Amino acid sequence: MAASSSGTTKNEAAPEQRQPVAVGKLVLLRFPEEADRAAYIALRRESRAFLEPWEPLPRPGLDPWGDSGFDRELQLADTEHTRRLLICRKTDGLIVGRLGISGIERGILQTCHLGYWIGAAHVRRGYCTEAVRLALGYVFTALKLHRVEVNLQPDNVASRGVAIAAGLKQEGYSPRYIKIRGQWKDHERWAITIEDWCEHGQRS
Ligand SMILES: CC(C)(COP(=O)(O)OP(=O)(O)OC[C@H]1O[C@@H](n2cnc3c(N)ncnc32)[C@H](O)[C@@H]1OP(=O)(O)O)[C@@H](O)C(=O)NCCC(=O)NCCS
Repeated sequence: MAASSSGTTKNEAAPEQRQPVAVGKLVLLRFPEEADRAAYIALRRESRAFLEPWEPLPRPGLDPWGDSGFDRELQLADTEHTRRLLICRKTDGLIVGRLGISGIERGILQTCHLGYWIGAAHVRRGYCTEAVRLALGYVFTALKLHRVEVNLQPDNVASRGVAIAAGLKQEGYSPRYIKIRGQWKDHERWAITIEDWCEHGQRS
């Protein structure tokens, strides 16, 4: 491990272990590995005050800012219903955030949900918008799903900006939809289908 210029710990795993699933101009997406533990936890901890207001309360026994939180990321990295992908800066591989694909449903729905966060030191550089665009390509081509949904709180202007920039459309409004910090919060429902993505959304 080595210290990066931004102060987080930089992962130096062998390149062959770190094949990206998608590469853009600014960032790449790749699965997390054990070797990412220190850098991931450092990014979470230094961003805690920024991220905590937007996150659900952790399940009992899980520390989302520590080892058990990273263990959970590894467990959910590649399952039937989930993917967890690190958002890494393309120039040097630094982990700058995380993109989660959850609720993968096959059968008659062929859908999933996206969630994302960027470390506090790395926001407003277009990283999340590009990460979501890359994730849409992964979801529609590699996973062959039909629809992607993002639910965001009405006062989350940053997340709405990402949804708009990545080509999603607001479909609806769900009162008291997700429990955040112990309170049921209204959410806007944003989504994109493969038809709209093929027509308008392939911009990464
Ligand atoms: C939401 C979040 C992931 C955005 O990440 P990001 O990498 O900063 O987003 P981008 O740089 O791609 O921003 C894209 C657009 O969103 C909008 N936006 C982003 N941050 C914003 C802010 N703080 N205020 C207003 N608009 C904002 C802008 O339109 C921006 O484009 P611009 O920078 O050219 O003006 C980040 O703010 C974050 O992690 N927030 C806390 C966790 C969270 O809310 N997750 C989503 C839950 S639904």
